Amino acid sequence: MKSIRIAIDGPASSGKSTVAKIIAKHLGYTYLDTGAMYRSATYLALQKHLTEADVQDILKELAQNPISFGRSEDGTQTVFVGNQDVTLAIRQNDVTNNVSWVSALPEIRQELVNQQRIIAEGGAIIMDGRDIGTVVLPDAELKIFLIASVEERAERRFKENQEKGIETDLEILKEEIAARDYKDSHRKVSPLKAAADAIIFDTTGVDIDGVVKFIQEKAEKIIDMGN
Ligand code: DC
Repeated sequence: MKSIRIAIDGPASSGKSTVAKIIAKHLGYTYLDTGAMYRSATYLALQKHLTEADVQDILKELAQNPISFGRSEDGTQTVFVGNQDVTLAIRQNDVTNNVSWVSALPEIRQELVNQQRIIAEGGAIIMDGRDIGTVVLPDAELKIFLIASVEERAERRFKENQEKGIETDLEILKEEIAARDYKDSHRKVSPLKAAADAIIFDTTGVDIDGVVKFIQEKAEKIIDMGN
């Protein structure tokens, strides 16, 4: 069977990771959460009190504490820097509110994009992020760009946080999501943007199953064509 590379991009809380994980499981593909990699770099920077001026030190920290993924007993993906489990720490507000400056540093992007391309080499992969279709895998067989209103995305993240026991305020979440959209879309290096050949799908009012079905049908068509 033909194995393909699926790129799923879109703004914060557009549902990328939720649907990507489900589709990966259905197809038996590897799932790579590239946002978790930028969050891990941010975690290291904050832990060591590093700033934009210290990009070389952030790179050194990344080299000494490589990002890797594991699986917990219940099957959910875990994230490590070195041998430290940062799965929960990288979702905390301090990381979320600092990830934009770390992910805007060209040297950090270059390093993480290299790592992402190496992971994708074997194919049979579904990756989510902001620049997968435009920069990381410009020749991916399927590119999806998910969008949704700020209100709906804030409500999704609010529920997610509640389930994880992270305390948040809905109005503040809306402001933070809008601010992160702006920063992600306006940064100089690899801004959030749909690839010219991406399928843009507005998930406002569409449930997870609906989004999964839409993407999986497109993926299966391409996979079948390769038979
Ligand atoms: O998907 P997420 O919200 O966990 O991503 C966290 C941040 O990482 C996001 O605000 C922008 C950045 N990011 C990026 O610049 N490029 C990617 N491929 C993935 C995430």
